[in-house]
Amino acid sequence: MAFNGIRNKTVLVTGAPSGIGRAVAVAFAEHGARVAINHLGRAREAAVVADMAEQAGGAALVVEADVSDRTQVRAMVADVIRHLGRIDVLVNNAGVVLVKPFLETTPDDWQRVIDTDLTSVFHTCQAVLPHMLENGAGCIINVASELAFLGRDRYTAYTAAKGGVVTLTRSLAREFAPDIRVNALAPGPTDTAMLASELTTPELAAKERDIPLRRFASAQEIAGSAVFLASDQASFYCGEVLSPNGGALMR
Ligand SMILES: NC(=O)c1ccc[n+]([C@@H]2O[C@H](COP(=O)([O-])OP(=O)(O)OC[C@H]3O[C@@H](n4cnc5c(N)ncnc54)[C@H](O)[C@@H]3O)[C@@H](O)[C@H]2O)c1
Repeated sequence: MAFNGIRNKTVLVTGAPSGIGRAVAVAFAEHGARVAINHLGRAREAAVVADMAEQAGGAALVVEADVSDRTQVRAMVADVIRHLGRIDVLVNNAGVVLVKPFLETTPDDWQRVIDTDLTSVFHTCQAVLPHMLENGAGCIINVASELAFLGRDRYTAYTAAKGGVVTLTRSLAREFAPDIRVNALAPGPTDTAMLASELTTPELAAKERDIPLRRFASAQEIAGSAVFLASDQASFYCGEVLSPNGGALMR
């Protein structure tokens, strides 16, 4: 599907060497955007994504940064603006999952997940928003999870972080409207390395059977929602949490 208003926009996607982030970067490039591909220690995969984006018709820049590190985030944002001129769209996609019983979750486990999945959004938004305000326009899309609404045993740090992403999205949306639109995506299970790392093969099959559409999403299906949220077609979306989840969660 073609979305309007993406051509020549500059989009920074965090955690883009793989999975949903990779699909998001390529989908924006297919719509004529220039994409900055953030990665952490995955330069080779990020370079492949940059090639894919360029072949799809967009320009690409690879930028390394640990999104949980405020100094690295600020340097990355400055780098993107220096090389690509501006940032119109920020997609906060980078994340880690932790599957561990709550009583075995250590303070270090907890901190790592909260830092990577939630505090990272605080860092990137604080780095990018002054620039967007100066431009008088911008769009931020935060990747949460359907688990922010469902909760899940053994996913306490992850669901707490993703629940935080949802409410942070709504508060930012209120604080920075009307010039800047902030929305979130809360995908259901999506066929990526993260999902494969979480569950055994029988657990994956059982989970798939539980979804009304009887399958996991592809990363490309989630990416379509991200491009939509940044497009002219989504111009009245503000503080919304879109949840492509195959019917697993009906709100
Ligand atoms: N796959 C699913 O079922 C699913 C469902 C809901 C939400 N999500 C969310 O989608 C996002 C993408 O996940 P995915 O499924 O594509 O898995 P993935 O593991 O392929 O992607 C996560 C990316 O984040 C990067 N990353 C991790 N820590 C980082 C850091 N500190 N700095 C920079 N990059 C970092 C990883 O290197 C990786 O490229 C995550 O936020 C995840 O929580 C995934």
